Formats: sequence, C-alpha cells, structure tokens
Amino acid sequence: MRVCAKIQAIMKPIIFSGIQPTGNLHVGSYLGAVKNWIELQNSGKYDCFFCIADYHSLTGNMTADERRERTMRIAAELLALGIDSQKSTLFIQSHVPEHTELSWIFNTITPVAELERMTQFKDKSARQEANINTGLFTYPVLQVADVLLYKGTLVPVGQDQVQHVELMRDIARWFNQRYGEYFPEAKPLLTEIPKVMSLLDPEKKMSKSLGADHVIELADSEEEILRKLKRAVTATEGGGQAPGAENLLLLLRHFGPPALFESFFRAEKNGSIRYGDLKAALAKTIAGTFVGFREKRDMLLAHPTKIEKFVARGAKRAGAVAKKTMSDVRKLVGIR
Ligand code: TRP
Repeated sequence: MRVCAKIQAIMKPIIFSGIQPTGNLHVGSYLGAVKNWIELQNSGKYDCFFCIADYHSLTGNMTADERRERTMRIAAELLALGIDSQKSTLFIQSHVPEHTELSWIFNTITPVAELERMTQFKDKSARQEANINTGLFTYPVLQVADVLLYKGTLVPVGQDQVQHVELMRDIARWFNQRYGEYFPEAKPLLTEIPKVMSLLDPEKKMSKSLGADHVIELADSEEEILRKLKRAVTATEGGGQAPGAENLLLLLRHFGPPALFESFFRAEKNGSIRYGDLKAALAKTIAGTFVGFREKRDMLLAHPTKIEKFVARGAKRAGAVAKKTMSDVRKLVGIR
C-alpha cells in the first residue's frame, strides 16, 4: 500500500511556480497567483514545487536588508495562506544553488536574439532605466532553469509570463538536440485570472511599485482597507466607462457572498449605487476573509524559527531533486 502511494506520488504531473519577494501579498497577487497555487496543491493531483525567487529579485533595486526581510515575510504569508509542507515543496530559491548552475548552462545554448524578443524585459528595462543589468536580460533563462531543474511540465502563470514558458520549451529542445534527450516540454497552466487594477490609477495593474495606497494588502486591517478605499477612484472625469468602480465590483465578486455582489452590481447598472456603501462593504468583506490569515501570519513572524524550519524542509526536498538533475546534466554536457 505504501509503495503504491509512493509510486503514484512520483507519477503525478510536476507543477512549478515562483514568486518574487516583493513585500506583502496584495489582493492582486493573491487572486492572480497564490489562491490558484493553494487550489492546485489541495487538489492532490500534482506534485507541487513553489519557490520564493530571491535570485530573481537581485535584478531589481531592493537593498540586502529589504530582500532578507521580505523573503521571510512572504514565506510567512504563503504558509499562513495554506501552503502546506506536507503537500507541497515550498523553498527559497537561493537555498538550492543548482538553480544558478543550470541557468549558466542554459545561457550558453540560448541565442541573444531570443531574449531580445522578451516583452517583459522591454517593459522592465523601460521602467528601471538606471539599472538595466545583464541579470534582468537573462532573467527568463533563470526562470527556465527553475522549472526544468525539477522537470516541471505545468507552470501556473499569468498571461504576462507565457512567453517565458514558451522559452522553457525552446531551451529544452535546444538542450535535447545538442546533448541528448533529457528535459520535458513545459506548458503554461492558464486559469481564469482576474486582473485587479490599482485603487488610485485603475488603468494600471495593481502593483506595490505604484505606491502603497494603490494596493490592498492581505495583512491590512479593515480600517486600513477602508482608509485606502476612501481614496480609490470610482468615476472618471467626464463620465463614461468607470474602470475604478468596475475594479471594486470585481473584488466584491471574488471576496463577497454572491447576493451582496449582485445587489451592488444591479445598483451600479441602474445608477442608484452609493460608492461609500460599496467601499464599506468591500473593506468588511476583504478584512473578514483574511482574519485567520492575519493571526497565523503574526504568529509566524513572531517566531521566525518556525518559518526557517518550513523552508529548510522545502530546500532539503528540492535540493535532492536538483542535485540529481545537475549530476545528470554535468555528465551530458561533459563537465564531469
Ligand atoms: N518570474 C516570476 C515573476 O516575476 C517568478 C518566477 C520565478 C517564476 N521563477 C519562476 C514563475 C518559475 C514561474 C516559474 O512573477
């Protein structure tokens, strides 16, 4: 019986995804990624690897202390949301240094022209003009190494990362052609991902980089959420389409009971909506959803050794797989 269960665990499709330690999770990153991770984990159908991509974050502008602090904080938040070390392998990328080794090998088989096509590089280098580093350019190759190190075949990502998943297939193919069949082909696992917009600038995707008051963090209290929502844009100048109001309704649809959403939705359609009421209802609903989360998060942050234990277990499990892959790869490419 135990052997059977083990074989079945080995045969499950391998999911890999990552998240950068950008700070506290907000409702956009939650609905866009982490909520889905937890559902995939709990379905029991997959062998899930999730990493906190601190190597990736080196391509940005965080200080060392910020990076350390945010890495621990996001680990606490993922655990508080229900990533379970019995069911998933959650680890910090740099705890498994094989990621960079494989990434180097992949760099040597990836044409520069392919990376020049990456739209995320173009966007990021436009935003980060003062620090267009080589790491930012080869970042998609590191992402490929992340997944292929575990021979992941399914990669839950948003639309903005699909191009990177296509690169996973290309790099696997280039490697296999040159050194022998070894890596599988990965596919994006696209689910319906709601696009949550900024509170203050609802034409843009919700992101902490716009400013703290543009996002609702999962750790925010009801008062804090209401304070931010009071400033949220609902109407556009000159009337017409109101993306801000639509965004608040989208959040209510995902976090609130259906009847509550429907009553505000109807009020919006017939023009009787009072945005003050919508904002109050939304603050209450979101804060209520994350009461248990906030308690667990605070407990973990007060006991960092608990967090360290979780991620150490993840690194041990991930490291064992990574070591095996790298030992095969070194032989295949002739450096051992
Ligand atoms: N690059 C991703 C992001 O910024 C995070 C990430 C790192 C990732 N490694 C990954 C996503 C591997 C999917 C697979 O959002």
